[in-house]
Amino acid sequence: MAEIYRASTTAPVNIAVIKYWGKRDPKLNLPTNSSLSVTLSQSDLRTHTTASCSPSYPASDSLLLNGSPQDVSGARTQACFRELRALRKQLEDADLAVPKLSAMPLKIVSENNFPTAAGLASSAAGFAALVRAIANLYELPASPTALSRIARQGSGSACRSLFGGYVGWEQGSAVDGSDSVAFQVAPANHWPSMRAIILVVSAAKKGVSSTTGMQATVATSSLFASRTSEIVPRRMAEMQKAIQEKDFETFGKVTMMDSNSFHATCLDTYPPIFYLNDVSRAAIKVVEEINASAGKIIAAYTFDAGPNAVIYYLEENEVQVAGLFKAMMGEKEGWKSERGEKVQGNEQAFQAV
Ligand code: DP6
Repeated sequence: MAEIYRASTTAPVNIAVIKYWGKRDPKLNLPTNSSLSVTLSQSDLRTHTTASCSPSYPASDSLLLNGSPQDVSGARTQACFRELRALRKQLEDADLAVPKLSAMPLKIVSENNFPTAAGLASSAAGFAALVRAIANLYELPASPTALSRIARQGSGSACRSLFGGYVGWEQGSAVDGSDSVAFQVAPANHWPSMRAIILVVSAAKKGVSSTTGMQATVATSSLFASRTSEIVPRRMAEMQKAIQEKDFETFGKVTMMDSNSFHATCLDTYPPIFYLNDVSRAAIKVVEEINASAGKIIAAYTFDAGPNAVIYYLEENEVQVAGLFKAMMGEKEGWKSERGEKVQGNEQAFQAV
């Protein structure tokens, strides 16, 4: 029986507070602007991945996600496999005693341990876990920064899931993407009272994928140029300062304004892209009311390429923010997590308020 080599890892979901939207190189997933996210590090928002290889495996690489076989022939997955194999090959060439794993078929088994119904973009955690599991299997001496460069080629936002806490992705300028990597702005324990609640307004798959949507925005939006050249660079600096200083008012304001700016460029795309729906807009209104009655910003919404809201707040405001949303959603099924309470609801429950 031929030997089986195996390694496992997990990677967390991240939600951007300064959005990545636009590629200057679609093949390498090189972005038109830098971005910044908060890693949702609780144990129930992760992808767990085991990578194994063996000379006894069937000839082609395989990937099982939540029990279903996935196509691995796509350029993005292939890019990750190719880069990781090349790094392993260097180790094998340098020392002939190193087993030739790079020549063996790979078997990847991935599980998301958050409900698919949460409507979260799973590609970020998925590619980050895939890359790190194979890097562990191959015993690569690669840093999280080096792995982020590879995971980016799987899905842009995946590069940010190689780090915990508050994570930036530097857009870089090199044509080969060597400087387009993630970096940690601050570890999670720098600002441990940060919480996120996820309001699931629709578990349906999004209409326009991020990849397609951002390409259309780059091609047609007239607002886009000022977003990438002026607005985002200024906000990246403001956001990093707010995180360093644990200044929630600025963190929250910039988060909400950047979500709005991103969705404005979507609306300004031709034909227009609508990710927010009436329920999303109602959630925005509730956050505005919470902040108005607190007399300051204690809750901040952000929306990715879909209608579900992520609301950031501090633990001390749990009752005013998460408590209120939970009550409004009629005590729908919920589940506890390290970073606060996530609430799963549905359109009807939210509209019934
Ligand atoms: C709105 O990383 O999913 O969530 O690079 O094409 O895979 P690809 O796109 P993806 O886009 C994420 C877009 C976003 C904003 C963000 O996460 O920064």
